[in-house]
Amino acid sequence: MTRNPTLLCCVYPEQKVIALSSISNPIRLGVAGLGRAFALSAPAIHAHPGVNLVAGAEPNSEHRRSFETTFGAKTYADVRDLVTDPDVEAVYVSTPHGLHKEHALAAINAGKSVLIEKPMTVSLEDASSLIEAAKKAGVQIIVGPSHSFDGPVKLAEALIAEGKIGRVRMIHALYATDFLYRPRTAAELSTDLGGGVVFSQAVHQIDLVRRLAAVPAQRVTARTGGAWDADRPTEGAYSMLIDFSEGVYASLTYSGYAHFDGDRLMENTAELGIPKSDEFKSARKILESVQDESEFKSSRGFSSLETCPQAQTHEHFGQVFVFGDRGDLRLTPNGVEITDTNGPEFYPAPFRTARAEVFDTLYAAVREQTTPLQDGKWGRASLEICHALLTSSETGDTVTLNYQEG
Ligand SMILES: NC(=O)c1ccc[n+]([C@@H]2O[C@H](COP(=O)([O-])OP(=O)(O)OC[C@H]3O[C@@H](n4cnc5c(N)ncnc54)[C@H](O)[C@@H]3O)[C@@H](O)[C@H]2O)c1
Repeated sequence: MTRNPTLLCCVYPEQKVIALSSISNPIRLGVAGLGRAFALSAPAIHAHPGVNLVAGAEPNSEHRRSFETTFGAKTYADVRDLVTDPDVEAVYVSTPHGLHKEHALAAINAGKSVLIEKPMTVSLEDASSLIEAAKKAGVQIIVGPSHSFDGPVKLAEALIAEGKIGRVRMIHALYATDFLYRPRTAAELSTDLGGGVVFSQAVHQIDLVRRLAAVPAQRVTARTGGAWDADRPTEGAYSMLIDFSEGVYASLTYSGYAHFDGDRLMENTAELGIPKSDEFKSARKILESVQDESEFKSSRGFSSLETCPQAQTHEHFGQVFVFGDRGDLRLTPNGVEITDTNGPEFYPAPFRTARAEVFDTLYAAVREQTTPLQDGKWGRASLEICHALLTSSETGDTVTLNYQEG
């Protein structure tokens, strides 16, 4: 591969892509919870040749009707009917965090593999019980979608493994969004119930940093920005330092207080892979004009494929740099930039739809029995770091981690 001192672009050939054209037996997927998370994943599921949506469960009758009309699939008001439906082979659990254990366990006990939204659960005990149950039932757990599945993260992992930046020494991740001022349920504003930015946002950043570090995390030292706004009394920001084995360390910082927009540093592309318009809309101001916040939140659930966000690039989670002893790597919404003594070089990440990699992973786990990177133990390890973040901030101490190895 030749280079110039100016930015070069090359296709990275070694990326393993699932043989989509050979898929003849798509997974029959059921979905528990047809709210916002499902609306974000629906375009990827619809486009993926390895997945067919066959059923959904949801108490909201409008979401159920939209799902039936769009996918020609059946719906249930109760998750128990979904998981015991013999047409359903695997279940995507996209209900609120507090219901993940109950819904995932019901599916696992019915012999179905599960894709569980992040965070896997709120408590570590619940995560452990799901891992045990899946082992006993001989089914797979995948925790996601999370930004560790993003195409550029996967590409970066391959480039690092190939030695393109030498040995990884240090990672830095920074993102600022309006997370705390998007419409929220009461539970999403209560730390005890898994609310705040730690369980919903840090878990993304932790996941992708762990994938790039590629060695186990050992200790966490952190501070949270808790209740800077008394009307939204949960963590809205944090900074943490993670010590990994082999001397690798990472700093992770996030603010969800809706001031600086971190997407400005990501080619003006939103987290969901959509170009941003120049028109500034303050999330705080929008929320001030809303009468009923939980009704507004519910209106952002699934209504049609046309109203789902349509990504034009990969999703991202803000700035991420990996510093190696021979070069530095930076993620962009389109791929990976590596800079060394010869200058910067750009590697595009193949793009189909946002989240396609999540459903590739689900397909490979269910049809080819491959163990996914983001399995139950992986999800529990990221959750442990979320808890360590909170504990370290509360006590002022460094927290040693116990669930990071295998
Ligand atoms: N990966 C991502 O990018 C992403 C984005 C948003 C949310 N999430 C995750 O998805 C999960 C859901 O969050 P959300 O924002 O979609 O919430 P939401 O409230 O918009 O959607 C949850 C849906 O579950 C339904 N539900 C509630 N109780 C149910 C029950 N007993 N049976 C079946 N359905 C039930 C609700 O009516 C609602 O439609 C959370 O764990 C969150 O962290 C992930």
